Amino acid sequence: MSPLRRVCYWLALGFLFVMVSLFWNIRSILLPLPGSGEVDASSDPLTILIWHSPFHKPMEIPGNVCQDLYDISGCRLTTNQNEFNRADAVVFHHKELQEKGYEFPTGERPSGQKWIWASLESPTNMNFNKNLNNLFNWTLSYREESEIFVPYGAMVPHSSTSHDISNKTGLVTWVVSHYGRSQVRAQFVKEFSRHLKVDIYGRASNKTLCPSCLVPTIARYKFYLALENSVHTDYITEKLWRNSFVAGAVPVVLGPSRSNYEKFIPSDSFIHISDFPSPKHLADFLSSMSGQQYSQYFRWRERYAVKIYNDWRERFCLICAKYPMLPKRKIYLDLIGWIWNEPLAKQSIPNGHRRAQTQG
Ligand SMILES: *[C@@H]1O[C@H](CO)[C@@H](O)[C@H](O)[C@H]1NC(C)=O
Ligand SMILES: *[C@@H]1O[C@H](CO)[C@@H](O)[C@H](O)[C@H]1NC(C)=O
Ligand SMILES: *[C@@H]1O[C@H](CO)[C@@H](O)[C@H](O)[C@H]1NC(C)=O
Repeated sequence: MSPLRRVCYWLALGFLFVMVSLFWNIRSILLPLPGSGEVDASSDPLTILIWHSPFHKPMEIPGNVCQDLYDISGCRLTTNQNEFNRADAVVFHHKELQEKGYEFPTGERPSGQKWIWASLESPTNMNFNKNLNNLFNWTLSYREESEIFVPYGAMVPHSSTSHDISNKTGLVTWVVSHYGRSQVRAQFVKEFSRHLKVDIYGRASNKTLCPSCLVPTIARYKFYLALENSVHTDYITEKLWRNSFVAGAVPVVLGPSRSNYEKFIPSDSFIHISDFPSPKHLADFLSSMSGQQYSQYFRWRERYAVKIYNDWRERFCLICAKYPMLPKRKIYLDLIGWIWNEPLAKQSIPNGHRRAQTQG
């Protein structure tokens, strides 16, 4: 190669190099990066510190649990309080917060770190003996308006899941462990069972069911009384999702308003006690229902399957999945006020069934 050609050669090479690196930089400005809006798996994972395990139950958090079990990347759960300073978010489960001697983190809060209040209980079943105002940035709860919405179950689009309903030998059943005379639902059952026999199982009756017997037992019945222990916006629990839908019994629900249920499930998948002027009308409706009418309550199964959420780890992993979409700056100035503010819960129970609600 002549000296001139060698110079040209190196110049061309240098030019090429500059163009390529320029293009590379511009590309990331012009083109949205693939997966933007989600946690970038190549960057540092988010660290979610669970300050204490819900109900003091030790949690197994193997290596990459969010990825391995729930296909959520870039998410690290830890219960090691020493990681406070590097945690992107710290989760506090409500029940233990209320215990005597409960200790919040003492160090200064790293800037940008989010504190998350978590609970799946309804306010009727909560204790409030501490001031929780101006402390939390986000909430994780069954309330749909929570930043991290964690329902007890959900309907997911699915093609036809057939369900055999030919084998049902019983009509109405109810499983109850915490029975309180003054509960709205107790009043309802007392009145309802004057008109139609209800087979009652659970700790409150003398017929307890082993955990694996629950669903098969209910499956033998046409209807399940999915009666929530207290009436609150979006408070729709495993009584609907597992005991009714998974077992394949049609739910007769007592809980928030019908319109509240219909935010989450098709209108023809359940019977709401407020659809009837009295428990007697409901009893007549159930006992005189034809096979043809009954099968209508299974039509939704051609379109949906039911997914149950019952693992706290999945709920905590969801924090990472939602993280990029959540408000960067937010404070719950009046958390307890927010908890009790629930316009959708009321006006749902027919006259005569709303009584003082007690715990349990
Ligand atoms: C019907 O019920 C009987 C008795 O409970 C059970 O052995 C049988 O497997 C059931 N059949 C179907 C199709 O579910
Ligand atoms: C349960 O059993 C006890 C003792 O056998 C009896 O006194 C009680 O009335 C029973 N309760 C119900 C709900 O059947
Ligand atoms: C989170 O809440 C705390 C306490 O109210 C507040 O001081 C902090 O600024 C909030 N952080 C963000 C990022 O909003």
